[in-house]
Amino acid sequence: MPEIRLVYRSHRAPHVTDTMVVDDIVLPAMAKNRRLNISGCLWFDDRRFLQALEGEAEPLDALYSTIQADDRHQELQLLAHEPIVERKFTRWSMKPMSARVPDPISAAMDELGLKRVAAGVSAPPASADGPVQRMLGLLVARSR
Ligand SMILES: Cc1cc2nc3c(=O)[nH]c(=O)nc-3n(C[C@H](O)[C@H](O)[C@H](O)COP(=O)(O)O)c2cc1C
Repeated sequence: MPEIRLVYRSHRAPHVTDTMVVDDIVLPAMAKNRRLNISGCLWFDDRRFLQALEGEAEPLDALYSTIQADDRHQELQLLAHEPIVERKFTRWSMKPMSARVPDPISAAMDELGLKRVAAGVSAPPASADGPVQRMLGLLVARSR
């Protein structure tokens, strides 16, 4: 079965507390992802989410549709959706990562935001895109 990786970012809804992220999103997601043989991570700060997910295309795309409809975040932007030969988040069905101060992931998110506005790009870019690759590398490093 071919596997894919997807990466997206979104705006965290203002009513969502850190406790809600961990108890209501991360913990149930760990169990459901394990059941679906999906692995990944969820990075968050006080206003944003960045998530990478890996698995078989069919269950993963179905899960992404569910996640897209979730009102605990808005304005999802798909940054990568691509076939993979090997998973990068093998140890975790869903690894939570809260932002550090300072956080290179946060800086990479800022940089990406500026680039998008400047370039006026709305379509999902290839993950060969520098900032996306760099963010992915940072997520992978922190998941180990
Ligand atoms: C930022 C964010 C990330 C999420 N990530 C996952 C995830 O990796 N796996 C998952 O099962 N649900 C995740 N969810 C929750 C889903 O949107 C959904 O509530 C959950 O899958 C339960 O759906 P169900 O009741 O239809 O099974 C996430 C929600 C948000 C807001």
